[in-house]
This record gives sequence, C-alpha cells and structure tokens, in this order.
Amino acid sequence: MRILSLALLSLATSVKTCLGFVPSLINHASTSASSPTSSQSSTRQLRRKSSCSSLSVSAVSNEIGAPGTADLPWNELGFEFRTTKSHLKMIYKDGKWGEAELVESPYLNVHIGATALHYGQSCFEGLKAFAHDDGSVYMFRPDENAKRINKSGERVVMPEIPVPSFIKACNDVVKDNIAYVPPYGSGGALYLRPLLFGSGPRIGLQPADEYTFIILVIPVGDYYKGGLAKPVDGLIVDDFDRAAPKGVGAAKVAGNYAADLIPNMEARKKGFPICLYLDAATHTLVEEFSTSNFIGIDNEKKRYITPKSPSVLPSITNKSLQTIAQDKGMSIEQRDIAIDELSEFDEVVACGTAVVVTPIGSLTRLDSSGIESAKYQFTEDVGATTRRLYDQVRSIQNGEVEDKHNWNFKVE
Ligand code: PLP
Ligand code: COI
Repeated sequence: MRILSLALLSLATSVKTCLGFVPSLINHASTSASSPTSSQSSTRQLRRKSSCSSLSVSAVSNEIGAPGTADLPWNELGFEFRTTKSHLKMIYKDGKWGEAELVESPYLNVHIGATALHYGQSCFEGLKAFAHDDGSVYMFRPDENAKRINKSGERVVMPEIPVPSFIKACNDVVKDNIAYVPPYGSGGALYLRPLLFGSGPRIGLQPADEYTFIILVIPVGDYYKGGLAKPVDGLIVDDFDRAAPKGVGAAKVAGNYAADLIPNMEARKKGFPICLYLDAATHTLVEEFSTSNFIGIDNEKKRYITPKSPSVLPSITNKSLQTIAQDKGMSIEQRDIAIDELSEFDEVVACGTAVVVTPIGSLTRLDSSGIESAKYQFTEDVGATTRRLYDQVRSIQNGEVEDKHNWNFKVE
C-alpha cells in the first residue's frame, strides 16, 4: 500500500504537483535517531554504479528514489547555480498561505512594484541534505532554519511560515530532486535555499500584501576551492561595515549580502578570498566573516571562543560545533573578542552551511594607504581541532556516527 501510494506520488510530482500545505510535522524523533544500521533495514537496496561521474561511488535506490543519478561531475561541484528538476513555491495572499507546488521552470513572474525589488523586503536560508550509505537522505537541522527564517522575516515585516510547513516543504523539494543529491562518498550535498520575499506591489514605504516563498536546490561541493585541505587567507575589513549594532546583521536579509559585495570583490583582488568584519561602532572587536561565523581555538586550555554580538548572524553550524566541542571536553566562550586577541589563537575557523568548517591560515589588516599594518598567522596546515570538529559534524551529516543530538531529519 505504501509502495503504491509512493509510486502515485512520484508520478504526480514528475509533472507539476500541488502539495497539500498541511502543517504535519515530519516524524523526526522516530527517524533521525536511527543509526545507519537501522535505516538500512527499511531500505530496498538497488546498487548501481554511477555512470555519469568519474568518481567511483554507488547510487543506491530506495523508496524515495536514487540519489546521485543526475548526469553531473560529482567530484567537481563547487558552489554555483545549477539547474535541477524543480523548485518549490508557495504564495501568501489575503492573509494566508496557499498550497505549495513544485515548479520546473527556474523563472518567476514578479510584479514590477514588488517590495523585495524596491525596498529589499526579502530574507533567505541555507541548509543541506546528505545521502547516507544506504541511499537514504537526511536534512541537517531544518527546524533551526525554519525558526531563523521566521526571525528574519519578523525583522522586515513578513508573514510567519509554520515550522512544520517549512520542514515539509524542504522534504518535498529534496524528494522531487533526489537525482541531484550528491551520492554518498562524493563529499557533496544538496544545498537548499529557501527564500521569502515581498512580491506584492507598494511604492510608498510599507510592507507588501503578498509574499512568495520558494526553495531552490542545487548540488554543491566545496565553497572555497580545496575545502578543508587548504587554509584560506582573510582580510580584516576597515573601510566598510557589515552591520550596525541595532541594524539587521542578526537577520539573514538579502540586503546584508549586497552591502558585502564591494568589500568582497576588493579583498579578492588583493588576494584574500575571505573578509572578516569588525564591530561597526568601534572597530576594535571581531564580528564575523561575510558568509560565516568566527571561531578562535586555544588548544592548550581547550577553549572554543566565538563572538557575542547583536549584529552577528546566529549560525546553526556554530551552534552545532559548540555542542560537538563541549562533547569533546572543550569549554565554550561566547563573548567580545578584541582584535588584539587574534594573536593568541592557535587556530581560527570560519563556519557556516556553505563553508562548513573552513580553516583560516592568516588574517591581514591594512592601513589607509593599503600597507600591511598587522598579520595574524595561524596553522599552515589544517589544525588538529579544526579537523576534529569538521570530521565529527560531517560524519553525523553522512550518517557515519551516532546522531545523538537528533540533528538529522529523514527525507521520506
Ligand atoms: N554568518 C553569515 C553572515 C552567513 O551568511 C552565514 C550563512 O548562513 C553564517 C554566518 C553561517 O550560518 P549557518 O551556519 O546557519 O549557515
Ligand atoms: C549559507 O552558508 O547557507 C549561506 O547562506 C551563505 C551564502 C551567502 C553563500
């Protein structure tokens, strides 16, 4: 019966599907704690060699289909837009959310007066789904992204998306794009980009009456070329600020990233792939990187130190790594970090969904005429603690170790 209904569902979704927008919570507790062994037993395995990749990985088919069967170079993905089968879309109108639908065209028809276009009434999320060895697929902490998009939305006056509806929408778009989930062993993930924006027209400054929520998905590999293997050199930004103390830095609103384009491009031209921002009020405290949080590691005292600031985005990866670090006996300090303290860290890490756990090789500060005024050097290779944090979070995501904090949500 279950197989028949799944077959009918997949037939329906292969054209264009209207999904009942029922806020029914996915049974997380019963599935996410399952060890790889227990999930294997419920899976009809059908192993096939992936013919479309130079990587020797197996595509394993199960009830939701086979991850990794799209014709893609799985070991060379990088982090860029790729067309997949569908995105999910739903509209908020007349005070309520409509049905979610899976749409194959990658284009949106948007009103010329949409508040997102004129006034930046827009926020987004980023999360990943991973294939496990048995072909099952799990999303990493989508409940946290659901909560955060609602916080961001609230800051720019957009309607709330019920958490169960957000999770179901993520589940459904991953399932429809199962062929694009990088296969287990490739190192990649399916990146989900939920986006909520004002799509109704307003020219006087007011919130819109209509909102659009979409989730697009893309298969991704490393954000910075070389991934964990290659520490990245960063530039401390003095000519620009990312976020004002009482501004929108803690919200994942689109405008924060537009403001970051020039500093990013200028840093890259100078040979620095990553920018570190300071607090806007005094330029004496470390805040965060353009697209990731800052972590300083003191190996001798086993300390994990990360900034506490109202203008830093509360990173779900950072929160997860703090739990992992505590599990490993480290102490967590979330507090102000004076820029001079950079010289005391053994390792520095940039963490986030896209960048995962990226080791920072050095941080350079330039004076107003562009001459180096300070350089903080960290490990030349990947530091031991950085590696341990990376290995543990990736092993949980890959279903290789026990998911004891129930972070993995099964796609079904
Ligand atoms: N900080 C900024 C500015 C970001 O854009 C991101 C990315 O989402 C992060 C931190 C990391 O957050 P998370 O770990 O939730 O992806
Ligand atoms: C993420 O890590 O999910 C982000 O949203 C960062 C993005 C700007 C690349």
